[in-house]
Amino acid sequence: MGRLRCCLLVFLLPVVFCVDFREGSRQSSRSLSFFAKSSQLGQHHIARRSLGHKVNKRSTDQGGDTCNALQGYQSKLADNTHSYSFNDLSGSVSLAWVGDGTGVVLALTTFQVPLFMLRFGQSKLYRSENYGKSFQDVTELINNTFIKTEFGIAIGPENCGKVILTGDVTGNSGSRIFLSTNSGNSFNHVDLPFHPMVQIMYNPHEPKVLVVISNKHDLWLSENFGSDWRMIHSTVCLVKWGMDNTLFFTTNLNGSCFDRGMLVLRKTSDYGKTSKTIGEKIYSFGIGGRFLFASVMTRTVQQGNMRMIHVSVDQGDVWNIAQLPAVGHEQFYSILAANNDMVFMHVDDPGDTGYGTIYVSDNRGTVYSESLERHLYTTTGGETDFTNVTSLRGVFITSILAEDGSVQSVMSFDQGGEWVPIQKPLNSQCDSTAADKEKCSLHIHASYSTSMKVNVPMLPLSEPNAVGLILAHGSVGDAISVMTPDVYVSDDGGYSWQKALSGPHHYAILDSGGLLVAVEQSNEAISAIKFSTDEGQCWHVYNFTNDPIFFTGLASEPGARSMNVSIWGYRDSFLSQYWVSITIDFRELLTRDCQDDDYVQWLAHSDDISDPKDGCMLGYKEKFLRLRKDSVCWNGRDYTVNKQHTPCSCTLDDFLCDFGYYRAENSSECLEQPDLKGHVLEFCLYGKKEQLQTNGYRKIPGDKCEGGVQPVRKEIDLSRKCVSNLIDPELLKDSQPSSSAPIIATVIVILVISIAAGVLFVKKYVCGGRFLVHRYSVLQHNAEVNGIEGVDEPLDTNVAAPAKIEFHDDSDEDLLE
Ligand SMILES: *[C@@H]1O[C@H](CO)[C@@H](O)[C@H](O)[C@H]1NC(C)=O
Ligand SMILES: *[C@@H]1O[C@H](CO)[C@@H](O)[C@H](O)[C@H]1NC(C)=O
Ligand SMILES: *[C@@H]1O[C@H](CO)[C@@H](O)[C@H](O)[C@H]1NC(C)=O
Ligand SMILES: *[C@@H]1O[C@H](CO)[C@@H](O)[C@H](O)[C@H]1NC(C)=O
Ligand SMILES: *[C@@H]1O[C@H](CO)[C@@H](O)[C@H](O)[C@H]1NC(C)=O
Ligand SMILES: *[C@@H]1O[C@H](CO)[C@@H](O)[C@H](O)[C@H]1NC(C)=O
Repeated sequence: MGRLRCCLLVFLLPVVFCVDFREGSRQSSRSLSFFAKSSQLGQHHIARRSLGHKVNKRSTDQGGDTCNALQGYQSKLADNTHSYSFNDLSGSVSLAWVGDGTGVVLALTTFQVPLFMLRFGQSKLYRSENYGKSFQDVTELINNTFIKTEFGIAIGPENCGKVILTGDVTGNSGSRIFLSTNSGNSFNHVDLPFHPMVQIMYNPHEPKVLVVISNKHDLWLSENFGSDWRMIHSTVCLVKWGMDNTLFFTTNLNGSCFDRGMLVLRKTSDYGKTSKTIGEKIYSFGIGGRFLFASVMTRTVQQGNMRMIHVSVDQGDVWNIAQLPAVGHEQFYSILAANNDMVFMHVDDPGDTGYGTIYVSDNRGTVYSESLERHLYTTTGGETDFTNVTSLRGVFITSILAEDGSVQSVMSFDQGGEWVPIQKPLNSQCDSTAADKEKCSLHIHASYSTSMKVNVPMLPLSEPNAVGLILAHGSVGDAISVMTPDVYVSDDGGYSWQKALSGPHHYAILDSGGLLVAVEQSNEAISAIKFSTDEGQCWHVYNFTNDPIFFTGLASEPGARSMNVSIWGYRDSFLSQYWVSITIDFRELLTRDCQDDDYVQWLAHSDDISDPKDGCMLGYKEKFLRLRKDSVCWNGRDYTVNKQHTPCSCTLDDFLCDFGYYRAENSSECLEQPDLKGHVLEFCLYGKKEQLQTNGYRKIPGDKCEGGVQPVRKEIDLSRKCVSNLIDPELLKDSQPSSSAPIIATVIVILVISIAAGVLFVKKYVCGGRFLVHRYSVLQHNAEVNGIEGVDEPLDTNVAAPAKIEFHDDSDEDLLE
């Protein structure tokens, strides 16, 4: 799957007029009370692995003199530091990399003065062809048109070189867009017959096909990269690209997108020439991996209007009810992560609790097992700390809201099978939140902390090509602390951690993990960048300038293969303020290319090599060739992760506890829930009632173990018709209403639902035309590869129009004050 290149940074000068970006309504009612001291994490089991000793040592040295090994870098780097000053006073800069390894960077600056209902503004466009070392002012290419900042720079997928900028021309009947097919070398403009309400979306598989919803909720499509547009549907509320050039959208026949739960889901496979209804009574829909989800309104006798998740693995032809609790008006569902094997689904608890439950699906997306309770996901702000650690298979980090109101981090090393506290870094002391000064754990700051205005400039960072590496802000205690966080690093996918830097920093991974860089977060002007060639153990300081700058952010090409990093900021003198970008090329520092003997074998998820099951994760082991810590050499742009797979034989750990079963404490065994003993578990799949014959185990989706323990699990067709979905108008007509009762009842019994109210959110990872205005770092570009999308959407009253929703919910809180 190709990685989409659409990455963007926004930095704002805190000085200039940018108040129209801010929205004060984000503060949660529970707010800081979440950060309280607490006792140990209670509901979780011990880590399955003892984490005491590390076998996979990757450095040859003994003792600490490696930190002095790197000499004379100051002059080497000084020769490779390029400073560029922009003659520009604008309040914000957006950056976008066009293509992979092309070195082309576009920088769009905007200056905006909001005056009553009008906006006056000016945009400037700059272009670099050398990874940001120097820029050219190319504003004349867009004829000095004011560009809508919130739509920013839309970069096409793959290396197609396509760029779209949306102009803000008032008074016209339509907007003007600027299109480039040569990475921004030249632009031509097209006057649209409408005003786009959201960013124009590329078809991820065919970038010359564009689609967008207008401010009148019409769906417009262009098949020739924006030259000609045709309206393919009216009253469209939400649109998403599916597989094979399929387009899904919700619409309301009565002409209002506010009538949630009354929407119709349609799909078109021929770019809108024909389209067909695939679901009714839709509240919202989302796509994750190969799964298409829809939340569908349903009336239950006991609870009135509820919503239930339906899932389809064939692009909406056949739907099944997901075995998840139904939710009421004020609750929400959210797809936390998904790939082609499984999904992580968050289901909000009833009431305004700020937490819910994570469920993991089977490989059909229909049957779910509970993975984590009290999972923090705020109702008002839609914040969750859920993070896929992309540098090691099966590893995830998130936070729970403990009963005492404190927030605590937990980690899963087996794709949600088990969640455990994070091991305390060896070189750290427990802080004041710890009851026992010797025993505490690491807590990771992520989205929730940033929404709470804790000084956390960046979210946890991991890259698929920097195997095992994680950088994150955290605190060490019994719960996450609001005190100034430090930067911690793990080199084994989160089993062990080390404090790397004191205080908050911006950081980036370069050269596939061979080089880390960091800049301290400060209110003062700065002149130093820190770097490490040994995965964060030793840090060297380089003074990149004699004239300190007010730092706003680090920028490096997404994908972590680059050796060039840009430090963005501004200089402030008595009369003027201007943007500067200082780019450092670290290539000269790592003088030689890495050779075979610079790499050592490393077994992932391992702690005891003598055990034949050591390192087995989801049914197989992976051995990687990783760079020695003390090797100072260049992995190179073309570096590929070298890994070897070995299948493992199955153990009970390769199975989830089935429907109606739970894992016994400190054991791999699944026990039957006492309240369900003797009950026959029935569920409905593809319109046929099936009886589940299980002794409690279900293979983890994606688990590739062979032989070994094989618990029996059978699904028997009971040859009775039943309602497997509530989405299809025809099926609904045929069936007696009573036949759906047992299914719903089963779900209720097992998953315990109650009536409630709530707000809905999307956790959106956007790309393929849209992008995040992401303040802290480069866009989370791993996420879009998996095509994760939210299911439900905010029903928040202060979200005025679906326009806002569709745009992106991250924008407000991501922009600085
Ligand atoms: C800019 O304006 C000139 C003159 O009106 C026009 O010829 C040119 O095509 C425009 N360029 C773009 C990119 O719109
Ligand atoms: C359209 O509106 C009418 C009257 O307000 C209502 O009866 C009907 O159910 C609505 N249909 C849809 C699809 O919303
Ligand atoms: C987590 O990220 C990895 C690496 O990008 C990806 O392969 C995997 O499918 C993701 N898992 C989920 C559940 O999204
Ligand atoms: C870098 O700057 C700091 C403070 O400005 C100074 O203390 C330090 O000696 C400088 N380092 C080098 C290598 O010049
Ligand atoms: C760094 O930038 C230079 C151009 O200035 C480029 O030639 C080089 O390939 C870049 N290095 C990497 C590793 O991307
Ligand atoms: C599980 O293990 C923990 C730690 O070893 C221990 O304190 C606890 O008593 C055990 N629980 C059971 C039910 O054995």
